Amino acid sequence: MIRSAIEVMHNSYSPYSKFKVGAAALLKDGTIITGTNVENASYGLSMCAERVCLFTIYAKGYRKNDIISFCIAGKQITYPCGACRQVMVELLNPDTMVILTDEKLNTKEMQVKDLLPNSFKLEG
Ligand code: THU
Repeated sequence: MIRSAIEVMHNSYSPYSKFKVGAAALLKDGTIITGTNVENASYGLSMCAERVCLFTIYAKGYRKNDIISFCIAGKQITYPCGACRQVMVELLNPDTMVILTDEKLNTKEMQVKDLLPNSFKLEG
């Protein structure tokens, strides 16, 4: 999964920022789903790698209990933005491991619940 996140960075469409991000999730059935950031000339329409990856997983019919771990890859260690943290809190389980990696396989690990304390939820 970590190598997949690093490899998929090459597919990043980021002509404006030149900042390539890859994401990958390992699923319980062994499948690895990846995503990259995809930018737009109308900058605000750009989408982060994490959300591309998570939305793809859900669009394929998988849900949070199908996901073992989630990885975010950057040239350097890249922490998820606030918007992605909100999406990760809803679409991943609180105790799912999130691994951040740079291109050289230096990693940091955390759990989803560490990413966004007191996050917004419709139910209390
Ligand atoms: N980006 C991500 O893909 N994930 C993050 O968590 C932070 C930022 C992308 C968005 C944009 O294409 C580029 O990195 C620079 O902000």
